[in-house]
Amino acid sequence: MSAPAPTVEEAVQAALATVDDPEIRRPITELGMVKGFTVAGGKVTVELLLTVAGCPLRDKLTTDITAAVTKIAGIESVEIDFGVMNEEQRKALQATLRGGGQSAEPVIPFAQPGSKTRVYAVASGKGGVGKSSVTVNLAAALAKRGLSVGVIDADIYGHSVPRMLGVDGKPTRVEDMIMPPQAHGVKVISIGMFTAGNAAVVWRGPMLHRALQQFLADVFWGELDVLLLDLPPGTGDVAISLAQLLPNAEILVVTTPQAAAAEVAERAGAIALQTHQRLVGVVENMSWLELPDGSRMEVFGAGGGETVAASLSKTVGASVPLLGQVPLDTRVREAGDGGTPIVLADPSAAAAKALDAVADRLAVRRESLVGKPLGLTVNTRR
Ligand SMILES: Nc1ncnc2c1ncn2[C@@H]1O[C@H](COP(=O)(O)OP(=O)(O)O)[C@@H](O)[C@H]1O
Ligand SMILES: [Mg+2]
Repeated sequence: MSAPAPTVEEAVQAALATVDDPEIRRPITELGMVKGFTVAGGKVTVELLLTVAGCPLRDKLTTDITAAVTKIAGIESVEIDFGVMNEEQRKALQATLRGGGQSAEPVIPFAQPGSKTRVYAVASGKGGVGKSSVTVNLAAALAKRGLSVGVIDADIYGHSVPRMLGVDGKPTRVEDMIMPPQAHGVKVISIGMFTAGNAAVVWRGPMLHRALQQFLADVFWGELDVLLLDLPPGTGDVAISLAQLLPNAEILVVTTPQAAAAEVAERAGAIALQTHQRLVGVVENMSWLELPDGSRMEVFGAGGGETVAASLSKTVGASVPLLGQVPLDTRVREAGDGGTPIVLADPSAAAAKALDAVADRLAVRRESLVGKPLGLTVNTRR
């Protein structure tokens, strides 16, 4: 059976369908961006609708479309007439991205029963223990493994994730969908992207809840394997909102070896018990400093990670493992300041290896439980 040879129009349509919008990463034909095209002699003229006027990705689209269409035999040149979507077209796009149907209630894809995204909320009792450094390194390490990774920087007191990942782009809006900027293969949304300059954010309770809800429901994350949230330190409003919005989120506790830090970390972890969230484990950061002679200097004491893990295991009645110990290393800070996490910038450093090993343990994909028999064993953690 041989199909009839495609017409040149069919060939152009097929070529256009291979071009992804650089931001949304779906074919421009699916997104309603191709309004039409004409073929005259060896020249194709494409009418392309941008989602927003002055779209910064115009040049990239031009290059990609030209490359795809000029592959067709007999086509020599491509001209693109740019237009901008009207409100109706943007609404249609939004509905496509949301998987059809416009519902009034914001839908959080990660909270749906069939979601395969593993959500890790990175928590600590106090600031400065390296919660953000751990978050961005895990994100970069997981993306390096080919996983699709998103990070929500929900630390209203010190939103440092964009800088640490070298993200300087702003999110773009399509109607009320937000496109997250990306760096190192990680999609990032930060509360800092929505505040003017470095203005201190004094959001409390309901506003924070709404912001978090928006980050989860209105940001176009696509199919994520892993979503990491950098939570503010302590057991505040955000942790409680998170428990309501994402009951399936698993808590990762970061502490230093110091006894005082460990105590507050335990309290942060214990909230998981009240909210019935699973504690995935503990990461001890700033564990020691390796001296030139190879010996270890325990700058912040020792045992904090073990203590927190043991105490949380006892509290929740299930094993909460110590997932790793990350040594102090000036390169961790330098890599963060430079916008390339140490797992990428200096993967052979001991700190990078420790973080990579934690990422390995978190990389396991959550299997959808939908339609599966539950079996006879009951997970006592929940
Ligand atoms: N293992 C480490 N070695 C050296 N510096 C670190 C390490 N972990 C974090 N830092 C640095 O310590 C500071 C606080 O870390 P950060 O990740 O911002 O903590 P938090 O998010 O808990 O407030 C940052 O300057 C960071 O670069
Ligand atoms: Mg931080």
